[in-house]
Amino acid sequence: MRLERTHRIACWWLRDVCRDSTGAGDGAAPELGTYLSPDEKRRAGTMRRKRRRSEFTAGRALARLAVAEYCGCKPQEVIIASDRNGRPLVRAPGHDCGLRIGITHSMGIAACAVAPVERLGIDVEVVRALPRLEAVARRCFGEAELRDFGDLSDAERRGRFFALWTLKEAYAKAVGIGLALGLHRVQFFFDQGAIVPAFAPELREHGRAWQFTLTRPAPDFFLALAVRKERGDEAPVHIAEGLPRCSG
Ligand SMILES: CC(C)(COP(=O)(O)OP(=O)(O)OC[C@H]1O[C@@H](n2cnc3c(N)ncnc32)[C@H](O)[C@@H]1OP(=O)(O)O)[C@@H](O)C(=O)NCCC(=O)NCCS
Repeated sequence: MRLERTHRIACWWLRDVCRDSTGAGDGAAPELGTYLSPDEKRRAGTMRRKRRRSEFTAGRALARLAVAEYCGCKPQEVIIASDRNGRPLVRAPGHDCGLRIGITHSMGIAACAVAPVERLGIDVEVVRALPRLEAVARRCFGEAELRDFGDLSDAERRGRFFALWTLKEAYAKAVGIGLALGLHRVQFFFDQGAIVPAFAPELREHGRAWQFTLTRPAPDFFLALAVRKERGDEAPVHIAEGLPRCSG
């Protein structure tokens, strides 16, 4: 997929990032590591768990390739810094790219999103058994979400839990606070295919400024995007498996 310089939200994901092509070895498809900056390579080298190292490498490689594609530079030239809460900030030397990026990983899946917007957050979660699912829901869901949740069958609950969790975390990452936001402060409802957010008054948000996307790219995981734009109209979203093509 080529990324055009329009008001477009683009997202790429990879799975099984811990496996190398032989199914053995140190993981993280070795070629992905070549896109990282020296500092990222050092950081990856300090990560003791192979899965964490592979996911970090894949997420950063995806983000670099996506920005390079957008700005017409080399992936290694892209500068990814972080603010004091860990939110990634991106620059490409010589390019006024005006992009936001988001990165996420979960259980061998890595994904990134890029878009020229005010705020951008992404989250991926593998749907799995959680021993304390109900307790986590009580802590992180709002009252109305919990009422809906209580009406669901056991089988439906797990799916709803991870759908809500990915949306909430995508929003928390878009505003840059992360889990410290208090995930119960933003609630989500599903109305005939539309995702309707309800923000706690203290967040001072307007629902119309936000665009939320929730998809299940494969049966085992959810991917959510949260985007705040200057203009309120719906921006097209492209989600693809694989690496962004990069001509830089
Ligand atoms: C952001 C947060 C929700 C991520 O949770 P997670 O499920 O463990 O991680 P994910 O795999 O989905 O996302 C990881 C990515 O999120 C991004 N990220 C980290 N902190 C972020 C923040 N505050 N806002 C937006 N994005 C953030 C990073 O790009 C990271 O990718 P990287 O490893 O390549 O740097 C969680 O780490 C959090 O709440 N952090 C808050 C940090 C904080 O309050 N710090 C205070 C200063 S010490």
